[in-house]
Amino acid sequence: MQYCILAGTEDCRPAFPAGNQSLEAMKKQVIVAIDGPAGSGKSTVARQVARRLGYLYIDTGAMYRAVALWALRTGIALDDLHRLEQLAKQAQIEFVGERILLNGEDVTGAIRGPEVSKAASKVSACGGVRRAMREEQRRIASNHSSVMEGRDIGTVVFPEAQVKVFLDASPEERARRRAAELGVEDKRTVAREMEDRDRRDRTRAEAPLTQAPDADYLDTSCLSREEVEDAILKLVRKRTSN
Ligand code: DC
Repeated sequence: MQYCILAGTEDCRPAFPAGNQSLEAMKKQVIVAIDGPAGSGKSTVARQVARRLGYLYIDTGAMYRAVALWALRTGIALDDLHRLEQLAKQAQIEFVGERILLNGEDVTGAIRGPEVSKAASKVSACGGVRRAMREEQRRIASNHSSVMEGRDIGTVVFPEAQVKVFLDASPEERARRRAAELGVEDKRTVAREMEDRDRRDRTRAEAPLTQAPDADYLDTSCLSREEVEDAILKLVRKRTSN
């Protein structure tokens, strides 16, 4: 997979680590790993925390969604592990500010539908797809301090991350948030789909969703977005102050 990241119009840093970058310089990058289930508030909070810190924001779920969208469009069976891996390696995924491009096409809206959500959860169980994504996620963050959100960032992608947060919320609250995000009334269907997806994400053999032993657990059910952001920023300050 070729992966290029453009951090927004005001901050277009190089897409790949400079070949001559010293190991010392790479070690200085700070990684804030935010994991948790759907509807735990990860995306909104991670994006805002990245903005406040001046770090890169990387939504790794969007990468799995882009691969899933391509698989659906090309009619690849979601259990054809070999072809899914090939697809993941070939996919050109770019973040351009708030937009996500797949092979040059803006798919920001297309990857958010329920069909793609379900397919992304299936595609992300494929070990070959995960390896391709993981490699690129590590490469992107090797020369940028980053806030990276997903399911396996603190456990597998960056087990050495300086800050690890596991965000969670009650199932009711997560369903409420997801329904509001999608602009749908039928919370029960949303809750059922989310439950299925969660079960798959938590029980798959490869990098299942789980809290890293050294991650801070934050239940966001009764917290405002600002409170969650402030709590994470406090952790970042604490962990990076020496
Ligand atoms: O965060 P999201 O809902 O956009 O993620 C879509 C799917 O991708 C989700 O079902 C789990 C999967 N995923 C993953 O397995 N690992 C990640 N790091 C991020 C997402």
